[in-house]
Amino acid sequence: MAIPTVFVLSGPNLDRLGTREPDVYGSDTLGDVHDAVRSQAEHLGLRADCRQTNHEGELIEWLHEAVDAAADVVLNPGAFTHYSYAVRDACAIVTTSGRSLVEVHLSNPATREEFRHTSVIAGVATGTISGFGLQSYLLALRALV
Ligand code: DQA
Repeated sequence: MAIPTVFVLSGPNLDRLGTREPDVYGSDTLGDVHDAVRSQAEHLGLRADCRQTNHEGELIEWLHEAVDAAADVVLNPGAFTHYSYAVRDACAIVTTSGRSLVEVHLSNPATREEFRHTSVIAGVATGTISGFGLQSYLLALRALV
């Protein structure tokens, strides 16, 4: 039987994890996150396709690719969370196609600046996990299975 693939997508500035505001995001690098995600995915009988981009259009194309591959998605949209209706619409294509999409955040945006309190993604996501650092990604994989 084929091993199901999950797209694990991270948006802008997450390539800077490890040195980016470590008091907020911790000291794990994106490489650490992807290693932990791949190993948790294997443990759960999944294959994780981990990617990061600083570009909105590229992220949207990856969400379309997930739909075409009939893959579930774990998405940390970074700051796109708070204002990108284009990313929201692409997420809606994923969830209305019958796939699951879990929005994740390393930090808990609700405890931070006012502009982070709004997620334009949450309303079309299957669910959201925030505030657990790298564990947010691993919990999202567990939620998918
Ligand atoms: C983030 C939270 C966002 O507000 C921020 O813009 C990020 C990271 C998180 O993982 O906590 O880039 O999505």
